[in-house]
Amino acid sequence: MSVLSHERLHKADWIDCAPSLAKGSIDFLYADPPFNTGKSKLGTRGSRARYRDSWPTVSHYIAWLRERLNATLPALKPTANILLHVDYRSSHHVRLLLDDLLGPDRFVNHLIWSYGLGGSSPRSFARKHDDILFYCIDPEKYYFKPPRVPATSRRMQGKTKKATDVLDIPSLNNMAQERTGYPTQKPLALLELLIEACCPPGGTVLDPCCGSGTTLVAATNRGRNAIGCDISAAAVRTARKRLSRL
Ligand SMILES: C[S@@+](CC[C@H](N)C(=O)[O-])C[C@H]1O[C@@H](n2cnc3c(N)ncnc32)[C@H](O)[C@@H]1O
Repeated sequence: MSVLSHERLHKADWIDCAPSLAKGSIDFLYADPPFNTGKSKLGTRGSRARYRDSWPTVSHYIAWLRERLNATLPALKPTANILLHVDYRSSHHVRLLLDDLLGPDRFVNHLIWSYGLGGSSPRSFARKHDDILFYCIDPEKYYFKPPRVPATSRRMQGKTKKATDVLDIPSLNNMAQERTGYPTQKPLALLELLIEACCPPGGTVLDPCCGSGTTLVAATNRGRNAIGCDISAAAVRTARKRLSRL
Protein backbone atom coordinates (compact mmCIF):
# COMPACT_ATOMS: atom_id res chain seq x y z
CA MET A 1 0.00 0.00 0.00
CA SER A 2 1.30 3.45 -0.86
CA VAL A 3 1.68 6.11 1.78
CA LEU A 4 0.54 9.70 1.57
CA SER A 5 2.97 11.75 3.61
CA HIS A 6 1.91 15.07 5.08
CA GLU A 7 4.11 16.93 2.56
CA ARG A 8 1.79 15.62 -0.14
CA LEU A 9 -1.30 17.34 1.28
CA HIS A 10 -1.22 21.13 1.22
CA LYS A 11 -3.47 23.92 2.36
CA ALA A 12 -3.10 26.04 -0.73
CA ASP A 13 -4.83 27.50 -3.72
CA TRP A 14 -4.56 25.12 -6.69
CA ILE A 15 -2.84 27.88 -8.67
CA ASP A 16 -0.02 28.09 -6.09
CA CYS A 17 0.28 24.31 -5.77
CA ALA A 18 0.62 23.65 -9.53
CA PRO A 19 4.10 25.16 -10.12
CA SER A 20 5.60 23.09 -7.27
CA LEU A 21 4.68 19.80 -8.98
CA ALA A 22 7.57 18.03 -10.70
CA LYS A 23 7.34 18.11 -14.50
CA GLY A 24 5.85 14.91 -15.95
CA SER A 25 5.16 13.35 -12.54
CA ILE A 26 1.36 12.93 -12.47
CA ASP A 27 -0.51 9.96 -13.95
CA PHE A 28 -4.03 11.09 -13.20
CA LEU A 29 -5.53 14.51 -12.49
CA TYR A 30 -8.98 14.31 -10.89
CA ALA A 31 -10.53 17.66 -10.04
CA ASP A 32 -13.86 18.16 -8.33
CA PRO A 33 -13.93 21.96 -8.13
CA PRO A 34 -16.81 24.07 -6.83
CA PHE A 35 -19.65 23.90 -9.40
CA ASN A 36 -20.52 27.62 -9.44
CA THR A 37 -23.90 26.99 -7.83
CA GLY A 38 -24.07 30.60 -6.65
CA LYS A 39 -24.38 29.50 -3.00
CA SER A 40 -21.92 28.71 -0.23
CA LYS A 41 -21.68 25.01 0.52
CA LEU A 42 -22.17 24.15 4.17
CA GLY A 43 -21.04 21.12 6.14
CA THR A 44 -23.40 18.66 7.85
CA ARG A 45 -23.17 16.52 10.99
CA GLY A 46 -21.92 19.42 13.13
CA SER A 47 -19.05 20.20 10.73
CA ARG A 48 -18.58 23.94 10.39
CA ALA A 49 -16.65 23.49 7.14
CA ARG A 50 -17.94 25.59 4.27
CA TYR A 51 -16.67 26.81 0.95
CA ARG A 52 -17.60 29.60 -1.42
CA ASP A 53 -19.14 28.41 -4.66
CA SER A 54 -19.96 31.53 -6.59
CA TRP A 55 -18.43 33.48 -9.46
CA PRO A 56 -19.91 36.67 -10.92
CA THR A 57 -20.52 34.98 -14.31
CA VAL A 58 -19.79 31.64 -15.95
CA SER A 59 -16.99 33.34 -17.91
CA HIS A 60 -15.25 34.23 -14.65
CA TYR A 61 -15.64 30.61 -13.51
CA ILE A 62 -14.20 29.23 -16.75
CA ALA A 63 -11.31 31.72 -16.64
CA TRP A 64 -10.56 30.60 -13.05
CA LEU A 65 -10.52 26.97 -14.16
CA ARG A 66 -8.53 27.66 -17.33
CA GLU A 67 -5.73 29.35 -15.41
CA ARG A 68 -5.42 26.43 -12.99
CA LEU A 69 -5.61 23.67 -15.59
CA ASN A 70 -3.06 25.45 -17.74
CA ALA A 71 -0.66 25.73 -14.81
CA THR A 72 -1.04 21.99 -14.08
CA LEU A 73 -0.52 20.60 -17.59
CA PRO A 74 3.32 20.54 -17.43
CA ALA A 75 3.11 18.18 -14.45
CA LEU A 76 1.18 15.53 -16.39
CA LYS A 77 2.85 12.49 -17.99
CA PRO A 78 2.22 11.76 -21.71
CA THR A 79 0.22 8.71 -20.54
CA ALA A 80 -1.87 10.79 -18.10
CA ASN A 81 -5.61 11.29 -17.88
CA ILE A 82 -7.70 14.23 -16.72
CA LEU A 83 -11.14 13.86 -15.17
CA LEU A 84 -13.08 17.03 -14.40
CA HIS A 85 -16.08 16.54 -12.17
CA VAL A 86 -18.75 19.19 -12.82
CA ASP A 87 -22.54 19.37 -13.28
CA TYR A 88 -25.26 20.59 -15.65
CA ARG A 89 -24.52 24.23 -14.86
CA SER A 90 -21.12 24.24 -16.52
CA SER A 91 -20.33 20.89 -18.19
CA HIS A 92 -20.93 22.31 -21.70
CA HIS A 93 -18.62 25.28 -21.00
CA VAL A 94 -15.97 23.06 -19.40
CA ARG A 95 -16.04 20.68 -22.37
CA LEU A 96 -15.29 23.57 -24.73
CA LEU A 97 -12.54 24.73 -22.37
CA LEU A 98 -10.92 21.27 -22.43
CA ASP A 99 -11.29 21.02 -26.21
CA ASP A 100 -9.52 24.35 -26.44
CA LEU A 101 -6.75 23.57 -23.93
CA LEU A 102 -6.02 19.98 -25.02
CA GLY A 103 -7.65 19.50 -28.42
CA PRO A 104 -11.01 17.82 -29.19
CA ASP A 105 -9.18 14.61 -30.15
CA ARG A 106 -8.12 14.27 -26.48
CA PHE A 107 -11.73 13.73 -25.41
CA VAL A 108 -12.33 10.16 -24.21
CA ASN A 109 -15.70 10.04 -22.39
CA HIS A 110 -18.45 12.09 -20.92
CA LEU A 111 -19.19 10.05 -17.80
CA ILE A 112 -22.46 10.33 -15.96
CA TRP A 113 -22.31 9.75 -12.24
CA SER A 114 -25.90 8.70 -11.51
CA TYR A 115 -26.26 9.07 -7.73
CA GLY A 116 -29.94 8.47 -7.08
CA LEU A 117 -30.53 10.48 -3.93
CA GLY A 118 -31.74 14.08 -3.91
CA GLY A 119 -34.85 16.16 -4.43
CA SER A 120 -37.35 16.42 -7.27
CA SER A 121 -39.11 19.30 -8.96
CA PRO A 122 -42.61 19.69 -10.37
CA ARG A 123 -41.11 21.84 -13.17
CA SER A 124 -38.36 19.57 -14.53
CA PHE A 125 -37.08 16.02 -14.62
CA ALA A 126 -35.32 15.30 -11.31
CA ARG A 127 -31.61 16.08 -11.55
CA LYS A 128 -29.81 12.97 -10.36
CA HIS A 129 -26.40 13.03 -11.97
CA ASP A 130 -23.08 14.85 -12.18
CA ASP A 131 -20.91 15.05 -15.30
CA ILE A 132 -17.32 13.82 -15.33
CA LEU A 133 -15.37 14.84 -18.43
CA PHE A 134 -12.56 12.44 -19.29
CA TYR A 135 -9.68 13.72 -21.46
CA CYS A 136 -6.22 12.29 -22.10
CA ILE A 137 -2.88 13.90 -22.92
CA ASP A 138 -2.04 11.55 -25.79
CA PRO A 139 -4.75 9.46 -27.50
CA GLU A 140 -2.10 6.87 -28.51
CA LYS A 141 -0.60 6.45 -25.06
CA TYR A 142 -3.12 7.05 -22.29
CA TYR A 143 -3.56 4.47 -19.54
CA PHE A 144 -6.96 2.82 -19.29
CA LYS A 145 -8.11 -0.36 -17.61
CA PRO A 146 -11.83 -0.92 -18.23
CA PRO A 147 -13.52 -1.20 -14.85
CA ARG A 148 -15.92 -4.03 -14.13
CA VAL A 149 -19.17 -3.66 -12.25
CA PRO A 150 -21.74 -6.22 -11.04
CA ALA A 151 -23.96 -7.45 -13.87
CA THR A 152 -27.66 -6.77 -13.39
CA SER A 153 -29.38 -9.20 -15.77
CA ARG A 154 -30.71 -12.52 -14.41
CA ARG A 155 -28.61 -14.43 -16.92
CA MET A 156 -25.41 -12.84 -15.63
CA GLN A 157 -26.32 -13.00 -11.92
CA GLY A 158 -23.22 -13.06 -9.69
CA LYS A 159 -20.95 -12.08 -12.63
CA THR A 160 -19.39 -8.76 -13.61
CA LYS A 161 -19.53 -6.77 -16.85
CA LYS A 162 -17.54 -3.85 -18.28
CA ALA A 163 -18.76 -0.53 -16.89
CA THR A 164 -20.53 1.83 -19.30
CA ASP A 165 -20.25 5.62 -19.27
CA VAL A 166 -23.15 5.74 -16.80
CA LEU A 167 -21.87 4.96 -13.33
CA ASP A 168 -24.65 3.96 -10.94
CA ILE A 169 -23.15 4.61 -7.53
CA PRO A 170 -25.29 5.94 -4.68
CA SER A 171 -24.26 9.25 -3.10
CA LEU A 172 -23.43 9.13 0.60
CA ASN A 173 -26.52 8.90 2.77
CA ASN A 174 -26.65 10.43 6.25
CA MET A 175 -25.81 7.13 7.92
CA ALA A 176 -22.80 6.26 5.72
CA GLN A 177 -19.79 5.38 7.86
CA GLU A 178 -17.36 7.22 5.57
CA ARG A 179 -19.33 10.48 5.86
CA THR A 180 -17.22 13.25 7.40
CA GLY A 181 -19.75 16.11 7.28
CA TYR A 182 -17.59 17.98 4.74
CA PRO A 183 -19.85 19.56 2.09
CA THR A 184 -20.24 17.72 -1.23
CA GLN A 185 -18.07 14.78 -0.13
CA LYS A 186 -17.98 12.14 -2.88
CA PRO A 187 -18.23 8.38 -2.23
CA LEU A 188 -15.07 6.29 -2.02
CA ALA A 189 -16.69 3.71 -4.35
CA LEU A 190 -16.79 6.30 -7.17
CA LEU A 191 -13.19 7.44 -6.70
CA GLU A 192 -11.84 3.92 -6.34
CA LEU A 193 -13.47 2.93 -9.64
CA LEU A 194 -12.13 6.02 -11.44
CA ILE A 195 -8.62 5.59 -10.02
CA GLU A 196 -8.43 1.90 -10.94
CA ALA A 197 -9.55 2.75 -14.48
CA CYS A 198 -7.39 5.83 -15.10
CA CYS A 199 -4.21 5.53 -13.00
CA PRO A 200 -1.72 2.66 -13.27
CA PRO A 201 -0.88 0.71 -10.09
CA GLY A 202 1.82 2.58 -8.16
CA GLY A 203 1.12 5.76 -10.17
CA THR A 204 0.36 9.21 -8.80
CA VAL A 205 -3.04 10.88 -8.58
CA LEU A 206 -3.40 14.64 -8.12
CA ASP A 207 -6.54 16.20 -6.62
CA PRO A 208 -6.11 19.99 -6.45
CA CYS A 209 -9.53 20.62 -4.79
CA CYS A 210 -9.35 17.63 -2.47
CA GLY A 211 -12.00 18.66 0.09
CA SER A 212 -12.40 15.91 2.68
CA GLY A 213 -9.69 13.85 1.00
CA THR A 214 -11.84 11.20 -0.73
CA THR A 215 -9.47 10.91 -3.71
CA LEU A 216 -6.43 10.62 -1.44
CA VAL A 217 -8.02 7.89 0.67
CA ALA A 218 -9.25 6.04 -2.43
CA ALA A 219 -5.78 6.24 -4.04
CA THR A 220 -4.12 4.90 -0.92
CA ASN A 221 -6.70 2.08 -0.68
CA ARG A 222 -5.92 1.16 -4.29
CA GLY A 223 -2.12 1.22 -4.06
CA ARG A 224 -1.59 4.55 -5.81
CA ASN A 225 0.28 7.61 -4.55
CA ALA A 226 -1.65 10.82 -4.12
CA ILE A 227 -1.05 14.55 -3.92
CA GLY A 228 -3.78 16.87 -2.74
CA CYS A 229 -4.38 20.49 -1.96
CA ASP A 230 -7.33 22.58 -0.92
CA ILE A 231 -7.71 26.25 -0.13
CA SER A 232 -9.78 25.46 2.97
CA ALA A 233 -8.07 24.72 6.29
CA ALA A 234 -11.12 22.69 7.38
CA ALA A 235 -10.80 20.53 4.25
CA VAL A 236 -7.14 19.79 4.89
CA ARG A 237 -7.84 19.01 8.57
CA THR A 238 -10.62 16.59 7.56
CA ALA A 239 -8.46 14.92 4.90
CA ARG A 240 -5.52 14.55 7.36
CA LYS A 241 -7.78 12.93 9.92
CA ARG A 242 -9.12 10.44 7.39
CA LEU A 243 -5.65 9.60 6.12
CA SER A 244 -4.26 9.12 9.60
CA ARG A 245 -6.85 6.38 10.20
CA LEU A 246 -5.72 4.29 7.22
C1 LIG B 1 -16.66 19.92 -4.54
S1 LIG B 1 -15.55 20.22 -3.21
C2 LIG B 1 -14.48 18.82 -3.24
C3 LIG B 1 -15.07 17.65 -2.48
C4 LIG B 1 -14.16 16.44 -2.47
N1 LIG B 1 -14.10 15.80 -3.76
C5 LIG B 1 -14.61 15.44 -1.41
O1 LIG B 1 -14.95 14.28 -1.76
O2 LIG B 1 -14.63 15.81 -0.24
C6 LIG B 1 -14.55 21.51 -3.88
C7 LIG B 1 -13.38 21.92 -3.04
O3 LIG B 1 -12.62 22.89 -3.76
C8 LIG B 1 -11.98 23.72 -2.79
N2 LIG B 1 -11.49 24.93 -3.47
C9 LIG B 1 -12.17 26.04 -3.87
N3 LIG B 1 -11.35 26.91 -4.46
C10 LIG B 1 -10.10 26.37 -4.46
C11 LIG B 1 -8.83 26.77 -4.94
N4 LIG B 1 -8.67 27.95 -5.54
N5 LIG B 1 -7.78 25.94 -4.76
C12 LIG B 1 -7.93 24.74 -4.12
N6 LIG B 1 -9.11 24.31 -3.65
C13 LIG B 1 -10.20 25.10 -3.82
C14 LIG B 1 -13.07 23.97 -1.75
O4 LIG B 1 -12.50 24.40 -0.53
C15 LIG B 1 -13.73 22.57 -1.69
O5 LIG B 1 -13.15 21.81 -0.65
